[in-house]
Amino acid sequence: MSVGTPIERIWPAPVTGPLTDPQLTALYGRASRPHLRVNFVASADGAVTLDGYSAGLSGEPDKRVFGMLRMLCDGLLVAAGTLRHEGYRAVRLDAGRRAWRRERGLAEYPTLVVVSGSLDLDPAQACFADAPVRPLVLTRDDAEPPAGLTEVVDLVRCGPDRVDLTAGLAELRRRGLDQVLCEGGPHLFGALTAADLVDELCLTVAPLLAGAGPGRITAGAASAPRQLPLRHVLAADGVLMLRYARDADEPADPPSAGAAPAA
Ligand SMILES: NC(=O)c1ccc[n+]([C@@H]2O[C@H](COP(=O)([O-])OP(=O)(O)OC[C@H]3O[C@@H](n4cnc5c(N)ncnc54)[C@H](OP(=O)(O)O)[C@@H]3O)[C@@H](O)[C@H]2O)c1
Repeated sequence: MSVGTPIERIWPAPVTGPLTDPQLTALYGRASRPHLRVNFVASADGAVTLDGYSAGLSGEPDKRVFGMLRMLCDGLLVAAGTLRHEGYRAVRLDAGRRAWRRERGLAEYPTLVVVSGSLDLDPAQACFADAPVRPLVLTRDDAEPPAGLTEVVDLVRCGPDRVDLTAGLAELRRRGLDQVLCEGGPHLFGALTAADLVDELCLTVAPLLAGAGPGRITAGAASAPRQLPLRHVLAADGVLMLRYARDADEPADPPSAGAAPAA
């Protein structure tokens, strides 16, 4: 994609000049083991939405990283609440990103994985109807699908009265979806945190005060606090992009700016 607002690494070691797509790709990378990465955008005062949606918090640098994280994953995990509310469309990657995946032996597109206990999902929603790869839905053992849903998705039943996320993630890994990117929303993030399944949080902080009202990036039942070390800080015209991860086997330094374009 064309690069607009420069993104620079300011911590741990500043990288001189704007990061190229290959450098950004290397900074986030794919982990060497099964990995769950969560990505959110929030305001400086901690709001998860502006006027009810995430779009008002995002901007060009956040979208650039958002798209790159999609390129890096095998499975794209999203809660039904966010999928319905944000009107998720089919996952698309441009030709360069699809080529990047092919060169590494990955499927051209990640698989969309929806978490829904109720199966209150519309099979005509574009994320299902136009999906380049048949999506999966993690659901309860006895949830009843609406007409037409199983024509466009595969159901993965994992739990008698609630979706057991630990079992669901294990099943994704059994199917080869090792690198999972979760795009929310807050209730799913809260449940993943409570189950101690989160390996990484990528958080964009938008330089604005949303004021009281909107929720946080996490919601649901309280759970124990967990340490998550900061791994890098990127900045783009006042927007901060923070990456926290529990494992340190991360790509430490990006390649030089002259590396061949990859994404
Ligand atoms: N700022 C950001 O980066 C960002 C990112 C994502 C979303 N958002 C915002 O977050 C809001 C949506 O949040 P939300 O409160 O609806 O939360 P959510 O986590 O998006 O969705 C909750 C729903 O997902 C399903 N679900 C989630 N966790 C589950 C679990 N452990 N077991 C079974 N089902 C589970 C359930 O669907 P069923 O009802 O089908 O059972 C549940 O009702 C929207 O305003 C959206 O814009 C912001």
